[in-house]
Amino acid sequence: MLDFLLKHAKERPTSFHMPGHKGSELFRRFGYQKFTSALVDCDITEIDGADNLFQPETIIREIQEQYKGLYESQKTYLLVNGASVGIIAAILSVVEPGGKLILARNCHKAAFNALRLGNITPVYIYPEILEECGLSGPVTASQIQQLLLKNLDAKAVMVTSPNYYGICSDIQEIAEVVHKLGKILIVDQAHGAHLKFLHEKFPEGGMPKSAEDSGADIVINSTHKTLASFTQSAILNICSDKIPLDIIEDRLQMLETTSPSYMLMGSLAVNASLLKKAGTELMQDWAENLNMFYDQSKVFENIKVIGVRPEILCLDRSKINIDVSDLKISPFELVRILENRYSIYPELVTGNIIMFMSGIGNVRKDYENLLLALHKIEKELEDEPNRKVPPKKELPPYPKEQKLLQPVPKNPQKVHLEEAEGRVCAASIVPYPPGYPVVCPGEVITAEVIAYVKALRENGENVLGISEDGLIQTGPRSENQNSRAEILSRIAELKNSVKK
Ligand SMILES: Cc1ncc(COP(=O)(O)O)c(C=O)c1O
Repeated sequence: MLDFLLKHAKERPTSFHMPGHKGSELFRRFGYQKFTSALVDCDITEIDGADNLFQPETIIREIQEQYKGLYESQKTYLLVNGASVGIIAAILSVVEPGGKLILARNCHKAAFNALRLGNITPVYIYPEILEECGLSGPVTASQIQQLLLKNLDAKAVMVTSPNYYGICSDIQEIAEVVHKLGKILIVDQAHGAHLKFLHEKFPEGGMPKSAEDSGADIVINSTHKTLASFTQSAILNICSDKIPLDIIEDRLQMLETTSPSYMLMGSLAVNASLLKKAGTELMQDWAENLNMFYDQSKVFENIKVIGVRPEILCLDRSKINIDVSDLKISPFELVRILENRYSIYPELVTGNIIMFMSGIGNVRKDYENLLLALHKIEKELEDEPNRKVPPKKELPPYPKEQKLLQPVPKNPQKVHLEEAEGRVCAASIVPYPPGYPVVCPGEVITAEVIAYVKALRENGENVLGISEDGLIQTGPRSENQNSRAEILSRIAELKNSVKK
């Protein structure tokens, strides 16, 4: 571990992956090296004067207040277990045990874990899959309205925006619909902590408004992903008076570690201070660098940069997605060349898309390095006439609404994926990244799911919930193959008979 970390640090790589600070240079540039060089000595516990995360009165409360000011929230909580814990706490605070939640199916696995912890029934909103790039697209206000009208007993709606690739939903429209029906809107903005500050630097469009400014009630931000706090630190913003703070606080203390790291909380303090001190300058630079990148990327002939024309998609353009299906090498080969030859590290590969995640700590040179490297690789490949474009990686369609909710199997068995059709899933299968499950516990494993997961694995992508030799956890074969409508009417019948 240490050899790996130190070797990587020594390489001084160009980082287009999380975290957003991109290394020590940002802290040095803005005068925070006193903190970074004393980091180990800042690793303390709740000694006198150090305050307490779960009853903040002094120095922790001060940082919370700073974030409240920065995001114009009603209250902000610091998180030391990532946005993941904020998502779970938010859901368990607003949906009662056994209640119902309208949930975008492309939410992070943390949301699905909350469903299990709270025995919550989800009603899924399926985002469209974007034809131009095969990525999961936005969810719409009209989809949500339809589902809410059919499920008036749902307490809240939860969506992710931006998603991992930066694709955003129209939170303002969604908030209007949700509030008209008296429900609560939770937005997982793990990938968009910067939107509040970067949006205004794109007056012509091309950087969506933050969920805080669009009417969401609870917004969870991974400040570590795109801003300057350390990995695992995050914040939860309360943006309306509909949220019971005592319950949120109770859930957070239940779920978080009792030894919150002062290194992480200190990094949240640095991030707040940096945004206050140099936020305007840093956001301006970031916007200019992105504009330069998108503009210059028009020289590519076989690399398609998604969102060059901002009007096409509601896209957070700080995530640079390139489609390399016309290039004469596979995405993974390209990544290997970028890493080994140019020391440039992207965030992820999905199908033919490589995503480069920019952050507050990236400087002009990083974008230039990326442009130059891609341009050079593209040219070299063109000069190899005998090299052919490898067969295009077509992923089968993302599995759609096959969902037949069954009780989660109590005594799961390990079964090979290819023999699992018709069985009830006992442990989520999650491509990671991006981290949203293809199939969840209690759902039936369909032929579509099997084909999709198989294709991801053949593509070399990382899939959680399946062993190296292809085994997954399942219950018995689903006996009840009735339609969802039949099942729901059965449940209604049972509820009625219980009432009687
Ligand atoms: C959409 C989304 N939400 C939430 C999370 C969890 O964030 P964290 O890593 O801060 O716990 C992730 C992680 O990548 C994510 O992609």
